Amino acid sequence: MEKLIDNIMPELQKYIHEEDLDLPQFYSYDYYEWYYTYGKLFKPKTLLEIGVRRGYSAISLGLGSQQIEEYFLIDNAEDGVPLAEGGANIQTAFPKAKINMLQQNSQDIKNISEFVPTFVDMVHIDGRHDFKGATNDLKLTYSICSNIIVLDDVGHHKNEQGIEKYIHGIEEAILYFLAAHKEFVINSHICNWTGNIILQRRKPL
Ligand SMILES: C[S@@+](CC[C@H](N)C(=O)[O-])C[C@H]1O[C@@H](n2cnc3c(N)ncnc32)[C@H](O)[C@@H]1O
Repeated sequence: MEKLIDNIMPELQKYIHEEDLDLPQFYSYDYYEWYYTYGKLFKPKTLLEIGVRRGYSAISLGLGSQQIEEYFLIDNAEDGVPLAEGGANIQTAFPKAKINMLQQNSQDIKNISEFVPTFVDMVHIDGRHDFKGATNDLKLTYSICSNIIVLDDVGHHKNEQGIEKYIHGIEEAILYFLAAHKEFVINSHICNWTGNIILQRRKPL
């Protein structure tokens, strides 16, 4: 997969909160540029995201897709940012989109269909970053996903010098998931700033 934009900052900057302006992922030019790319390539109309914070990945996906009609957002606000803030930011970027929010620990959700009563074209998993968290989030969402699952923080975080830290467990969760769900395959493993794996249904629903 080829990165389709070199620098998303000119488009994303206006949605960045002043407290976040120094976050290194904005200046790696190797992170939100990929979310834009996934949006542009797969053109989701509906997106479920676990782990929203201020909405930057969801906005980047929307800027790439240009046709997201409905967002389903889940975040337990454990990073200190209320989900309403992320939802409002996304709404500012896409005034016509329908925004649904559930401020809850995804690990405690028993029936996702109560919040998402439809299939979604894309799921983005960026909440609890360990084996159990990713395993549960995959189990929670795969059955309502009609095509693409993007997982963040797969393996490593990079900086200019190379690997900065290694996150254990998410790759393993994906491998166990794929062994049990042959209807999904790995579309791509993107070794970008945080590492993304893109899962895709063999036959989109
Ligand atoms: C890395 S941030 C998400 C960043 C966002 N995807 C972006 O790139 O703009 C992770 C978010 O996941 C949320 N989170 C962590 N564990 C969670 C859980 N178990 N359930 C729901 N949200 C969770 C945190 O509150 C935080 O807002």
